[in-house]
Amino acid sequence: MPFSNRLDWAARPNRLTELLEARRAQGARLLDLTESNPTRAGLDYDKQAILAPLAGESSLLYRPHPAGLESARRAIAAYYAARGHEVDPGQIILTAGTSEAYGFLFKLLADPGDEVLVPRPSYPLFDYLARLEGVAVRQYRLVYDHGWWLDLESVRAALGERTRAIVAVSPNNPTGHFLKADEQQALVTLCAERGLALITDEVFFDYPLGSPRGRAPSAVTVGGALSFTLNGLSKAAGLPQMKLGWIVVSGPRELLEAAMARLELIADTYLTVGTPAQEAAGAWLEWAERFQRRLRTRLEGNLAHLNSALSGTPAGVLECEGGWYAILQLPRTRSDEEWALELLRGDGVLAQPGYFYDLDQEACLVVSLLVEPEVLREGICLLLARL
Ligand SMILES: Cc1ncc(COP(=O)(O)O)c(C=O)c1O
Repeated sequence: MPFSNRLDWAARPNRLTELLEARRAQGARLLDLTESNPTRAGLDYDKQAILAPLAGESSLLYRPHPAGLESARRAIAAYYAARGHEVDPGQIILTAGTSEAYGFLFKLLADPGDEVLVPRPSYPLFDYLARLEGVAVRQYRLVYDHGWWLDLESVRAALGERTRAIVAVSPNNPTGHFLKADEQQALVTLCAERGLALITDEVFFDYPLGSPRGRAPSAVTVGGALSFTLNGLSKAAGLPQMKLGWIVVSGPRELLEAAMARLELIADTYLTVGTPAQEAAGAWLEWAERFQRRLRTRLEGNLAHLNSALSGTPAGVLECEGGWYAILQLPRTRSDEEWALELLRGDGVLAQPGYFYDLDQEACLVVSLLVEPEVLREGICLLLARL
């Protein structure tokens, strides 16, 4: 058959997915502790604030700019200004979501067969995003010891002849680890020494939980190495359906300018971002401040519930500094997959086994903190009854 080998097309669904599909087909009740789609989590969206900006007459006009409309890039610069960072709209490229931003960056930085370093544990999409560009991923480690830490030695060990970039996710999905100022500085130094690019995914940056100590400033402040900071409305405004993300390029001037010119050529080839979303970006980013406050209350409430419900039981919650997820450590009497299957089969409670994220800790389950509080409470109650 005339198909590429970029992905393992024949991969079978895992046992949890099969069981889930069977239960759905039977119409069985499900307590879904994995819901991470904000538009389906019972959150309050202000219809007027979201829909009205789409109705402007300017959306009837097509006048594409490779980097994206100036008005949208100015709104993104204002988002950073409100956080104390100076970003020029000329440093920004719009994309149809952060996943596409990774695609653009891998095309910009790597030839087929080159490598990028990504954290372990992490978000499972990296492998697909890289393979689709013909790029290989190598993993460096985040280690857990009273909180998550970047293992700098493992970053050095993963570097090879063909490494082009180091990816950091801050805060990380699902560990909630915020890059610390010294960890960020070490990565910048390494990238500058080896002529690599630093890619920092900050999609969950506006969702710290508690007061994380020593966290690094946004990577838009990085000047010592070529740096790409990713973010978007998907998480920052809870609007994944609008498909609007961005890349902020920073670093030494000559590199920054060369990167922008090349990125504009890549973006111009596709011109993926719809005009209505670009026209509405400014209004949505203003509204996002209110959305974020409400969502942080939900995330913090759910995390507090997990901590209090699991305290004094054989299970626990790994320390989490930010983002939309929490990791539950269950007794090691079963594997993570066995726990997840048993919970789904016995109680209709869905949680993700840690191996989905390459978690090295045994018997961990990942739950979303976005879940409606009543659903989380009932699901955790059933889980505790099983311990
Ligand atoms: C760490 C991280 N980066 C990027 C994305 C994708 O975001 P987008 O919807 O902007 O493509 C996700 C989605 O869950 C994510 O967890």
